[in-house]
Amino acid sequence: MKALVLAGGTGSRLRPITHTAAKQLVPVANKPVLFYGLESLVAAGVDEIGIVVGDTAEEIRAAVGDGSRFGARVTYLRQERPLGLAHAVLIARDWLGDDDFVMYLGDNFIVGGITELVADFRAHRPDARILLTKVPDPRMFGVAELGPDGGVRGLQEKPAAPRSDLALVGVYLFTPAVHEAVRAIEPSDRGELEITDALQWLLDRRLTVQATTITGYWKDTGNVLDMLEVNRSVLETLDGAVEGDVDADSELIGRVRVESGAQVVRSRIVGPAVIGAGSVVRDSCIGPSTSVAENCVIEGSEVEFSIVLGGSRIDRAGRIEGSLIGRTVHVTGAPRAPRAHRLVLGDHSRVHITT
Ligand code: TTP
Repeated sequence: MKALVLAGGTGSRLRPITHTAAKQLVPVANKPVLFYGLESLVAAGVDEIGIVVGDTAEEIRAAVGDGSRFGARVTYLRQERPLGLAHAVLIARDWLGDDDFVMYLGDNFIVGGITELVADFRAHRPDARILLTKVPDPRMFGVAELGPDGGVRGLQEKPAAPRSDLALVGVYLFTPAVHEAVRAIEPSDRGELEITDALQWLLDRRLTVQATTITGYWKDTGNVLDMLEVNRSVLETLDGAVEGDVDADSELIGRVRVESGAQVVRSRIVGPAVIGAGSVVRDSCIGPSTSVAENCVIEGSEVEFSIVLGGSRIDRAGRIEGSLIGRTVHVTGAPRAPRAHRLVLGDHSRVHITT
């Protein structure tokens, strides 16, 4: 069995972060979301992995390499344009050969991994198996309708009038039967070859598509709060460890990881929290539920329930909470009560200002 991991696409919903970085590399608890996917594939016994890449190919390649550090063999498959999930299967045809495969969307996060699902698929080998999860607003997702026996009866892509609240999760298991389907379907109104259409094509030909409903799933929805929640739940599972320096005037409470080369000076870190390699936290209070990535400087500030990406600096900024701060961002406090806010923000930035 092989894995096809999708790490192309445009990532418009996570702008501005994705203007400058692949969304699959956005960190959760200081580890790119894509890495969790690769680890869960290897844990499920699937170590031959094809990664579909687009414009951010170099960045993905630099992060993942040949896959050996995950215990995987990685091949990169170039998709010239993000023409849809089924299009990714189409371009991977030769590499996939006649093997069964797991298709895994590289920006998705499945709490608890996929080991059981893969084992179950191997044991029963339906033509395809999809994962579903209940969502509050199915109109933004591919949606499945189940029959009375629990089998998949029909599928809709981002429907205006959803027939169920069960959305497709970004992991699919396929036998080679899917190849004929992705060749047969036409692009949708948005110009993409939809995997839901390929699945529907299988259903129309009376092939079996089974479904498993799971909890513990996250897909970026452009909603930063979701991302902070995932970060929080992953941090909850971390063990505390101090590899950097924490001075005697600082206090670590609960599960806190201070990575190598990080310095904590006259500060209080409330777990779960992680302070990335080479970062400096001085005269500050960090956490709970906060990830500070590598090489950041946080001085004279409070940061709670937030993600701060690499190389950023937060300087006498008061209290920051519920925030996603990109790479090499500089947030500074005004020396006196501000009469005006001074902002340098990239396209698609979102800022909440207390007025
Ligand atoms: P999506 O989130 O469906 O699409 P997107 O990346 O274009 O994002 P947005 O809608 O915010 O602009 O993609 C799911 C995953 O699949 C993601 O990791 C990107 C990847 N992908 C491809 O590799 N090729 C494609 O043709 C598409 C549509 C997505």
